[in-house]
Amino acid sequence: MTFGETEPSEHRGGEGSVPAIVPGKVTFSRRELDRILGLYGRMVAAGEWRDYAIDFLKDRAVFSVFRRSSEVPLYRIEKNPRLARRQGAYSVISATGLIVKRGHELDGGYPYLVAEIDGAVAGYAYAGPYRARPAYRFSVENSIYVAPEAHRRGIGRVLLSRLIKECETRNYRLMIAVIGDSAQTPSIELHRAAGFKMVGAFEGVGYKFDRWLDTVLMQRPLGKGASAPP
Ligand SMILES: CC(C)(COP(=O)(O)OP(=O)(O)OC[C@H]1O[C@@H](n2cnc3c(N)ncnc32)[C@H](O)[C@@H]1OP(=O)(O)O)[C@@H](O)C(=O)NCCC(=O)NCCS
Repeated sequence: MTFGETEPSEHRGGEGSVPAIVPGKVTFSRRELDRILGLYGRMVAAGEWRDYAIDFLKDRAVFSVFRRSSEVPLYRIEKNPRLARRQGAYSVISATGLIVKRGHELDGGYPYLVAEIDGAVAGYAYAGPYRARPAYRFSVENSIYVAPEAHRRGIGRVLLSRLIKECETRNYRLMIAVIGDSAQTPSIELHRAAGFKMVGAFEGVGYKFDRWLDTVLMQRPLGKGASAPP
């Protein structure tokens, strides 16, 4: 793997200050670095990543993460302004050179949480894009499920509140719950208890098991919500 016109790393190490603007080179802004270091911190805490390097090159800025010092980076997060208009300036590249993600926004990805009881999966919660078009990039749609034998033990509440926190850390601003049937009292009540408000329902929008199903929509602001620009 090569960085092209590789130059010595501008900065290296898990601690210390962040480098300032470097003339004639592509750099990460303070906001971009906050995002990247937020993710880095979580991965360090999870024991996945141990070290990083930042390179400001003529055509791109590169944040490399390492599991161990002195080995090839596990991932590189690259910002290449020349690609900004078409493919998106940001890409995440694996150790083998594969582009695992490319986009216009430097987001922290989407969280996926699993609850275990004695090593067995008891439930999960995740967030994903609400819609693919860029205007909706600050909104997420969530999904949550707890195994019937584990109901009413507070697992759904813990999963949902953690999911909300994870999405707020990633600067998403709205969470939307699309609940499969208005008869889903547990889910509606769970979301209501977590600060969601009812938006409305599509009536007869689905058909399953010989009957028409409604879809209930609920929403909850994340962080500053729509009260401030992203
Ligand atoms: C909805 C679901 C995730 C709740 O999980 P859970 O772990 O049983 O929920 P918790 O024990 O954490 O309950 C948290 C709150 O949700 C509400 N709630 C949960 N089950 C409820 C029920 N059967 N009736 C009314 N309120 C209920 C209550 O407000 C509860 O707080 P309380 O126990 O203090 O009253 C679970 O029932 C489920 O997986 N259902 C099927 C899948 C589904 O509907 N997914 C939602 C699609 S978005």
